[in-house]
Amino acid sequence: MHPLANKFQELFASAPDIIASAPGRVNLIGEHVDFLDGFVLPFALSDVTTVAIAKNSIGKIRTSSVQRKGAISIVDCAALTPKSGEAWTRYPIGVIWSLGIDSGLDILIDGQVPLGAGLSSSAALECAVATALNELFDLGLSLSDLARAAQRAENIYVGMPCGIMDQSVSLMATEGNALLLDTKDLSIEQIPFDIAPLGLELLVIDTQVHHALVDGGYAERRASCEKAIADLNINSLRDISVADFVARKSELDEKTYLRAFHGITEMKRVLDAVTLLKAGDFVGFGEIVTAAHISLRDNYTVSCPELNLAVDTALKFGALGSRMIGGGFGGSAIALIKAKDSDLIKSEVKSAFMKERFKSPRFFSALPSAGARIID
Ligand code: GLA
Repeated sequence: MHPLANKFQELFASAPDIIASAPGRVNLIGEHVDFLDGFVLPFALSDVTTVAIAKNSIGKIRTSSVQRKGAISIVDCAALTPKSGEAWTRYPIGVIWSLGIDSGLDILIDGQVPLGAGLSSSAALECAVATALNELFDLGLSLSDLARAAQRAENIYVGMPCGIMDQSVSLMATEGNALLLDTKDLSIEQIPFDIAPLGLELLVIDTQVHHALVDGGYAERRASCEKAIADLNINSLRDISVADFVARKSELDEKTYLRAFHGITEMKRVLDAVTLLKAGDFVGFGEIVTAAHISLRDNYTVSCPELNLAVDTALKFGALGSRMIGGGFGGSAIALIKAKDSDLIKSEVKSAFMKERFKSPRFFSALPSAGARIID
């Protein structure tokens, strides 16, 4: 029996009907463009969130988590309205709401994706639940349908206006590949990212600065990009070239201009990065990754001192490219490094953090892994 099934049995005195899991992600490039019809290039981590679920006949959703020592949070399933339920339960309940399921359910979560580290623990949870419910209720939904349902849960039920990248990669990723996703229509191309044989490693540096994206900085920047679209009277930032955009600078206020400039140039960087990856040019690829960081730091202004220090130190000690990932304001950075430099870079980042009296960072090496799956 799956270990989570045992725990479920102890907690709810019955066996789960289904167990499913879904991964967190890193994003190689394409940051803050997944709500602007942009391209993104994330890959799934091997860290997953697993959920065990069973239908119940008491008309209630009972949610529990191994990480919360099995405390049970209960809501009435007839009365689901956005933002109801304890904050941490809104991700799974939001998916139930978004899929229009009105049965009572028992849910036990085992989350192994670090929380608040910019690695999409929330999408992992949403997508594990969506995958389980799709099977349990025989909904027949495609991966794109599930991604949109999970995004709707987060946008409306949780209240975080995220794009569609995290949910898509958590559902659609395949082992060994990064996912080139066109967020306009959710079309995908799997891009091989097999760097170990080349002596390379993708190092994740978790700054341990915990962000709360529901807080407003994310939404405010998204709103700036939408303002640019309205002020320029265009359909999408994707429809305007960098040159045309720069030529219309005077039509926008400075903040709006800089934020939209990030979006437009970032979309171009993703496609350039994919071309370089396909040509096996990891030096050129690394340079674009670093250029993305500079734009996130200076134009989009979502970095923070800890992320900048991690990136600068990794680059100083030999990284081919490095940048903050995810929503920003904390969380993680990635560095594309030569595997032989791994120990040196980790210890230099660690001592640079100590010198600044920052919290001690955590490190791990990321490999492109598979997306959501039914386990049992
Ligand atoms: C968060 C959001 C994503 C995306 C990234 C930034 O992870 O959930 O939709 O916008 O930030 O690229």
